[in-house]
Amino acid sequence: MTDRLPLAGVIGRPIGHSRSPALHRHWLARYGLPGDYTAFEVAEDDLAEVVRMLPKMGVVGVNVTVPHKVAALAIADRVTDRATLVGAANLLIFQADGRILADNTDGYGFLANIRAGAPGWSAGSGPVAVLGAGGAARGVIAALIEDGATDIRLANRTRTKAEALHRAFGNKVQVVDWHHAGEMIGDVQTLVNTTTMGMTGAAEFRLPLDALRPETVVTDIVYTPLRTPLLERAEAAGCVTVDGLGMLLHQAVPAFERFFGTRPEVDDAARQAVLSDA
Ligand code: ATR
Repeated sequence: MTDRLPLAGVIGRPIGHSRSPALHRHWLARYGLPGDYTAFEVAEDDLAEVVRMLPKMGVVGVNVTVPHKVAALAIADRVTDRATLVGAANLLIFQADGRILADNTDGYGFLANIRAGAPGWSAGSGPVAVLGAGGAARGVIAALIEDGATDIRLANRTRTKAEALHRAFGNKVQVVDWHHAGEMIGDVQTLVNTTTMGMTGAAEFRLPLDALRPETVVTDIVYTPLRTPLLERAEAAGCVTVDGLGMLLHQAVPAFERFFGTRPEVDDAARQAVLSDA
């Protein structure tokens, strides 16, 4: 046995703007736990070598972010079913037997965030509209299906990418033409934006929202700004809105528990820890 402090971190490139260190360090301090969490900037060509080195330096696991989420699967010795389904990992655990386990907690974070913001919500209790068909959409759709969704309507600017997700997930996912996305949101229980529209520095959010009804729960995985144009307009329409920062916070909960042995709470102090570091 070693008496080294548990170390964990996040690997990506660029990594300077990651808010994960601030969050994990906040929780370490709050629960009085030994250990540390740091950011590792790693180039794509070096990923496998660095990951194999980390356990030798006392690192117990790492979060994985852009651009390594897909490559991380190939490095792992074992991959959880949910990471296989999503085709990407956001967590690598260095096990005591020397093997590397890849997992994905993004779907957990997505569901926990909506449940916290919209009590009583469940993905299976009505149609869900999803905007976007990139890597984030894949994780969101896997989570929605895991929570019982059977009627997911998917619209993406590039239709072929939405069709690929329909093929991957089957008939629970139906493709809606991007030009009809504005109409599709009028009769759903949940609306999820997984596109980058509305993000600071990215394209404007340009979808007609007149059809939105107050019964619809609206969530955006974009969290810069915190109140995205979509969420502001949904709020004005009387909808319950759930911001994307909560997903970042909640996906970190199972990771922190695996690293440091304590299940942390997502509360205002945790949100502030992330925001004040921004
Ligand atoms: P991520 O992995 O975060 O999902 P991504 O794979 O680059 O990122 O996907 C970005 C998503 O935002 C895509 O669905 C993209 O649509 P395309 O597949 O047509 O590229 C969507 N997106 C980005 N800019 C957009 C815009 N101006 N209008 C509509 N959709 C946009």
